Amino acid sequence: MQLPEYVGQTVLVTGAASGIGHAQVQAFRRQGANVIAIDRQAQPASLKAGTDLSYQVADVTDESALVTAISAGIAVLGAPSIVCNTAGRLDGYRPTLKTSLKDWQAILATDLTSQFIVTNTVLPMMLAQQHGVFVNMASIAGLVAGGGGAAYTAAKHAIIGYTKQLDLDYAAQGIRANCLAPGAINTPMNAADFAGDGKMAQWVADETPAKRWAQPQEVADLTLFLASQHADYVHGTVVPIDGGWLEK
Ligand code: NAI
Repeated sequence: MQLPEYVGQTVLVTGAASGIGHAQVQAFRRQGANVIAIDRQAQPASLKAGTDLSYQVADVTDESALVTAISAGIAVLGAPSIVCNTAGRLDGYRPTLKTSLKDWQAILATDLTSQFIVTNTVLPMMLAQQHGVFVNMASIAGLVAGGGGAAYTAAKHAIIGYTKQLDLDYAAQGIRANCLAPGAINTPMNAADFAGDGKMAQWVADETPAKRWAQPQEVADLTLFLASQHADYVHGTVVPIDGGWLEK
């Protein structure tokens, strides 16, 4: 897939060090975009330094650190026209009675509130340009139960609601916001499923109509389409990429 429209555009990606975010960073760079990459982990060797990359270490649950990282990236590469709110983490599939208030707040801060902070930081710049695209990371856990525990499922459902409202409020001013809802993607987040005899990973594949896990690159490819002008009429919706999990 070649999308020349990305040449010279600035894209902001959170959760850039690993898994899907990492694949999104590389996918946009290959298209000629400049990327502001944010993660709490140090820059991995696999993300090669270059004038097209501004890598910022920040914890997305720390508002001040996050805003500082975004500003530092913008100082180098300019304001982003595309944002991938990808940072997130699982909650150990804990039901509500096994979820402490501290854990609940930590999951919501990482998965949901970080998207709010990033959005409110960059949206005014997008509105000044009358153009901006958000690709917010939900999950099948944003549409059905069972893809996480109480906190993760609540956060992912809320991301979908937040994204719809964001689109509704600003679509007429050139903003487009959508969610991705991946199913089983083989990333470090799911390492526990592959541990030991890998029975859990096998079960997930067996339960998936496509009978396999997907690679993060497949989600990055969908991101490229969703953020592009080819998807200009796609607004406020959720695009599953789940091997058919939700069709059952
Ligand atoms: P991953 O664990 O490989 O990558 C997540 C990245 O987010 C890591 O680099 C991590 O350091 C970063 N991160 C986590 N908390 C952070 C914080 N407080 N501050 C800054 N960075 C932080 O996981 P993966 O699979 O790539 O997940 C990315 C997103 O995709 C998450 O939002 C996840 O919920 C979502 N997702 C993943 C699925 C999967 O099967 N892997 C399925 C559906 C959704």
